[in-house]
Amino acid sequence: MKAIVAVDRNWGIGRDGGLLVHLPGDLKYFKEKTLGKTVVMGRETLESLPGSKPLPGRDNIVLTRNSCYEAGCPLCHSEEDLLKRPDCRGEDVFVIGGEQVYRMLLPYCDTIYVTKIQGEYPAEKFFPDLDQSDEFEVVWESEPVEEKGVAYHFVEYRRKQGTDPGAEPGDGGSEK
Ligand SMILES: NC(=O)c1ccc[n+]([C@@H]2O[C@H](COP(=O)([O-])OP(=O)(O)OC[C@H]3O[C@@H](n4cnc5c(N)ncnc54)[C@H](OP(=O)(O)O)[C@@H]3O)[C@@H](O)[C@H]2O)c1
Repeated sequence: MKAIVAVDRNWGIGRDGGLLVHLPGDLKYFKEKTLGKTVVMGRETLESLPGSKPLPGRDNIVLTRNSCYEAGCPLCHSEEDLLKRPDCRGEDVFVIGGEQVYRMLLPYCDTIYVTKIQGEYPAEKFFPDLDQSDEFEVVWESEPVEEKGVAYHFVEYRRKQGTDPGAEPGDGGSEK
């Protein structure tokens, strides 16, 4: 699995059920990476999307514990339920948030695409700080981009050799 996320300087990712800042160039990058792939998200993130609808052009899977929930795409009601699905592991599966789901699935991810926004926002949701992690290292960084007065750049993290990308269900997420 891979994950893709936009973070501010403090690894903040959202507040009030939405993103910290809307950057068209980042949304384009997200679309390029995920189009034609499987995306896995939490119910809160689904509800933050336009019309609370699954993303077009991708196979969406939504996590919710509510067995009556209707998302317009396949649902999973637990981590085990998700990991049992044959289409949920591998290169073409992107974890797209939010905080709960990133933390839960980070142990299964080997590549993380991080958009690093050079600012601080009053976030209430966070991604684990990969720069403090022993498990991930930076393998690529883009040149800086500036949009709407906001500077950001794209960074690719890879899981270090010897750390375990295939943790067993129930191991839980990193709190780092
Ligand atoms: N910056 C970024 O790149 C980015 C990306 C995505 C999201 N975000 C932001 O992140 C925030 C949302 O994050 P969040 O942590 O509040 O919510 P979330 O992770 O999107 O969704 C949480 C929900 O997922 C379901 N869930 C979680 N673990 C589960 C499990 N083990 N089994 C079954 N269902 C499970 C539950 O749904 P039920 O309550 O229905 O049971 C839970 O309430 C928003 O502000 C959003 O804009 C930012």
